[in-house]
Amino acid sequence: MIKYLGSKRTLVSTLTGVVHRLPDVRRVCDLFTGTTRVAQGFKTAGYHVRTNDVATYAHVFALAYIEADARALDLAKLGRILGELDALPGVRGYYTETFAEQARYFHPKNGARIDAVRDAIEGLDLTRHERAILLTALIEAADRVDSTTGLQMAYLKQWAPRAHNDLALRLPDLLPGTGEAFCEDAAAFVRRGGTETVDLTYLDPPYNQHSYFGNYHVWESLVRHDRPETYGIARKRLDTNDHRSVFNSKPKSRDAFAAVVTGIQSRYLLVSFNNEGYLSETDLLTILGGKGYVAQRSVDSKRYVGAQIGIYNPAGDKVGKVSHLRNKEHLFLVGPNRQEIEHALGVESLNRAQSSLAFG
Ligand SMILES: C[S@@+](CC[C@H](N)C(=O)[O-])C[C@H]1O[C@@H](n2cnc3c(N)ncnc32)[C@H](O)[C@@H]1O
Repeated sequence: MIKYLGSKRTLVSTLTGVVHRLPDVRRVCDLFTGTTRVAQGFKTAGYHVRTNDVATYAHVFALAYIEADARALDLAKLGRILGELDALPGVRGYYTETFAEQARYFHPKNGARIDAVRDAIEGLDLTRHERAILLTALIEAADRVDSTTGLQMAYLKQWAPRAHNDLALRLPDLLPGTGEAFCEDAAAFVRRGGTETVDLTYLDPPYNQHSYFGNYHVWESLVRHDRPETYGIARKRLDTNDHRSVFNSKPKSRDAFAAVVTGIQSRYLLVSFNNEGYLSETDLLTILGGKGYVAQRSVDSKRYVGAQIGIYNPAGDKVGKVSHLRNKEHLFLVGPNRQEIEHALGVESLNRAQSSLAFG
């Protein structure tokens, strides 16, 4: 899976454990699915999973990992096509010029391979799941040889050692099971009944000013294949500012979160929110309290990948040190029965000051 700001990789077993301890949950929705890591955890645990995310690359990941059922795919065909794509010689084109010459996210030899593979995928006769699987393989391969700190707003001044490796396509670890993938604004999705037939909705919205569209513009363009005009050292898409999420605005994020939560129709809500985010614990407890009993627990987690590596300016020079490398993720579980949610979140075992059971 790709390097991703706010990825819940380290929380997957905690989150699936919580859902597992709830009674009668069969269908879950991951409303801001991103890399689909959490949704994959749910699918592996045997739930039917519905995903949503406004990013087109996240939709592609979700079609591949969540909606496609590995038991129903022609894996031999996919393996053969991947082998053929992997053998293509590089061809200098839009991706090389934009992201390997004007910017330096990839070594030019890999930029040219990305061009060749992306163009070839467009010419193949594929189902939508097969296409998503090949695009996922290409993005994951590109991510393994990139020269960034995990965000596409800057690249390293010197090539990262991995950038010298050759781009190599691998078949993603596809999962058996059932699911559905949507690509909509979360508020609109909820308003049109997207959570109506699920038992639990998991919410992991953006929590600060960092725009996913702007920080992962290369993946967005690789999927759309629309060769947009770009600007600045980072060669972001010209339409980047049109895609800012309301969750990236401090004054708007509280109402935006409240609008989504209010519309959710599932019996249970599970929320993760970073303690450095725009919404305070009190805000979150107040909004969630309108839906039922709320149990809360905090989990210590690593800060985003960029913070682990350092702070760089757009030219790729290291310009600062990071103040701390760990933070807390607040988990909230909401439901109609207090004992059920207390038991599922495991809050009895914690000291009461840390695990406030707030509203009902
Ligand atoms: C914190 S990340 C989710 C990370 C995910 N749980 C994971 O482990 O990869 C938040 C996600 O919300 C998506 N997003 C931002 N605004 C949105 C909106 N209005 N509706 C739906 N998704 C949105 C972003 O594209 C991003 O993938």
